[in-house]
Amino acid sequence: MKIIAGNSNRALAEEISKYLDIPLASCQVRRFADQEIYIEIQENVRGEDVFIIQPTSYPANDHLMELLILIDALRRSSARRITAVVPYFGYARQDRKPGPRTPISAKLVANLITNAGADRVLTIDLHAGQIQGFFDIPTDNLYGAPVITRDIKEHYNTENIMVVSPDVGGVVRARALAKRINAPLAIVDKRRDKPGESEVMNIIGDVNGYECLLVDDIVDSGGTLCNAADALLKNGAKSVTAYITHGVLSGGAVARVSASKLKELVITNSIEPTAAVLAAPNIRTMSVAPLLGEAINRIAQERSVSSLFF
Ligand code: R5P
Repeated sequence: MKIIAGNSNRALAEEISKYLDIPLASCQVRRFADQEIYIEIQENVRGEDVFIIQPTSYPANDHLMELLILIDALRRSSARRITAVVPYFGYARQDRKPGPRTPISAKLVANLITNAGADRVLTIDLHAGQIQGFFDIPTDNLYGAPVITRDIKEHYNTENIMVVSPDVGGVVRARALAKRINAPLAIVDKRRDKPGESEVMNIIGDVNGYECLLVDDIVDSGGTLCNAADALLKNGAKSVTAYITHGVLSGGAVARVSASKLKELVITNSIEPTAAVLAAPNIRTMSVAPLLGEAINRIAQERSVSSLFF
């Protein structure tokens, strides 16, 4: 087995390599003067089972292109099997046509990865489970829930917790977590009754007196999260913490979260945390390296991956 890393999350790749006790394969990912990506794999991979660690996070286009070129290089070097390990699968939010003349970028990216020559995909908390079906190659969508559940049990008294979905789209994910920790569920329902009127946040469920845990797959601008936190506190929540798998945190998101009333935002390192994220007083990162490392191990040994979640 070989593990190879692109440039998008070197730290995570190194942690996975440590977990598996396998060094990262020697590979150079460089740029031509015009910024085209140039890749050279510096060791023999003929007949190997190769895992590429490369979330397609910011800058998404560059990291996606690196992933595709890495797959191509490995295919042309006669690797036996190529698994694209994409802990954060970018472009996933366009997973259907919300209106006429719009793309389905999640399907396009699935096609690109498949056509470049990947044999399998391994990812965590896809924005929508059905994106798995956009691939015609085996795709393992790991759940961040076991890592999140362990952290909640270590940091909270689960008796006074209410799990909250920050929007209607995230209810299935939040309900699954609530079931794991045996907590009740509430939902934030955003509505704009008339165009031009400001958004109203209705809370479905009585959050009064509860320590609320907002659960979502992505925090990008932080808008969904901070608005939901305000609405919960207004409705009597004792405190609001957020557990979100992918800390995209673009633009002023870190400042927004730091200035918010959130007690804590807990993310994973599916995307490499920036210096600003690491310095933020109320953002904490949990590692998914053991989860990914174990899944890689099981794939390589043709053992069950789903049994990781029972
Ligand atoms: C939306 O469907 C996602 O699950 C997240 O709620 C959304 O991407 C968060 O975006 P932002 O942080 O920009 O509000």
